[in-house]
Amino acid sequence: LPEATGTAAAQATDEHAAMMQRMQADLIDSYDEELEMEIDDRAFDAAQGCFSSEQRSQRRDYFRELFRLQGELVKLQDWVMATKHKAVIIFEGRDAAGKGGVIKRITQRLNPRVCRVAALPAPNDRERTQWYFQRYISHLPAGGEIVLFDRSWYNRAGVERVMGFCSDEEYEEFFRSVPEFEKMLVRAGIQVIKYWFSISDEEQHTRFLGRIHDPLKQWKLSPMDLESRRRWEDYTKAKEQMMERSHIHEAPWWVVQADDKKKARLNCMAHLLAQMPYHEIPHPPVILPSRERHEDYERQPV
Ligand code: ADP
Ligand code: AMP
Ligand code: MLT
Repeated sequence: LPEATGTAAAQATDEHAAMMQRMQADLIDSYDEELEMEIDDRAFDAAQGCFSSEQRSQRRDYFRELFRLQGELVKLQDWVMATKHKAVIIFEGRDAAGKGGVIKRITQRLNPRVCRVAALPAPNDRERTQWYFQRYISHLPAGGEIVLFDRSWYNRAGVERVMGFCSDEEYEEFFRSVPEFEKMLVRAGIQVIKYWFSISDEEQHTRFLGRIHDPLKQWKLSPMDLESRRRWEDYTKAKEQMMERSHIHEAPWWVVQADDKKKARLNCMAHLLAQMPYHEIPHPPVILPSRERHEDYERQPV
């Protein structure tokens, strides 16, 4: 900055400096939000001093890459809006595989009207009488929208199969229908991307224990989850069937190795970005209009 001489110039410099400080404080706030999301247990404060320099540099690399990918997602969002692209992204995987975590980070900086999440509860009595795919239809994207399905119609091939919520006939009918159903979506211009989050037996065990002991995470642990531990082998069979019978050229399955949560998130986000031919959309520069001034309201927060 040029050295200020007159009092008016000095005042302007002060105001500018104060403004820069407020902008910086706001930026730091947003980084803190990021860190809060990363605090996986409340013993974090106690542990903070215990980070080795290697751990610190790993964390720095993780956040750097996460922020970079989130920046790319903002460009993708811009492109989706400009081109009226439509996409469905399906997240499947065992309980506690980390689907929720990656979905949160994908949507974190995006406009919820462009990129939204569909996490349907178990079907109600009325829905149970409908065509199986019917209740998912209303959640499909219009032009310029991305819908992330946190679990999806593949429930029939997983939980419903293993827990006995559907009949053999319904299960077979599902596999006759699902390739046709997804091909119809693709022909209607909807891109369909399917991710399977893969975790090991030991890792799921550890994560469930974490959920039992952490009051902030207990809500994530449902009776269904506990049963899924007992039926690990059945879920393995169900998953193999699903991969075999619904992996189609128009909508292939992508497996995300998810024992390492952070790597899984970054890998999945980078892969997702690579699935769409987005590019930066040029915009005229934004100029913040100055508001009309009324002495009465000057500097009063309202
Ligand atoms: P989540 O793992 O998504 O937090 P749950 O473990 O409770 O939730 O349930 C797993 C899945 O099983 C959910 O997608 C839910 O809709 C489905 N589900 C639960 N009960 C039934 C049921 N009776 N019939 C069909 N699907 C069910
Ligand atoms: P299978 O492929 O027959 O070995 O079955 C895999 C799992 O699916 C088993 O744990 C069964 O309990 C479950 N299963 C088998 N048949 C049905 C069915 N008709 N409805 C729901 N679940 C089933
Ligand atoms: C996950 O971690 O995969 C999701 O949070 C779903 C779950 O609770 O199991």
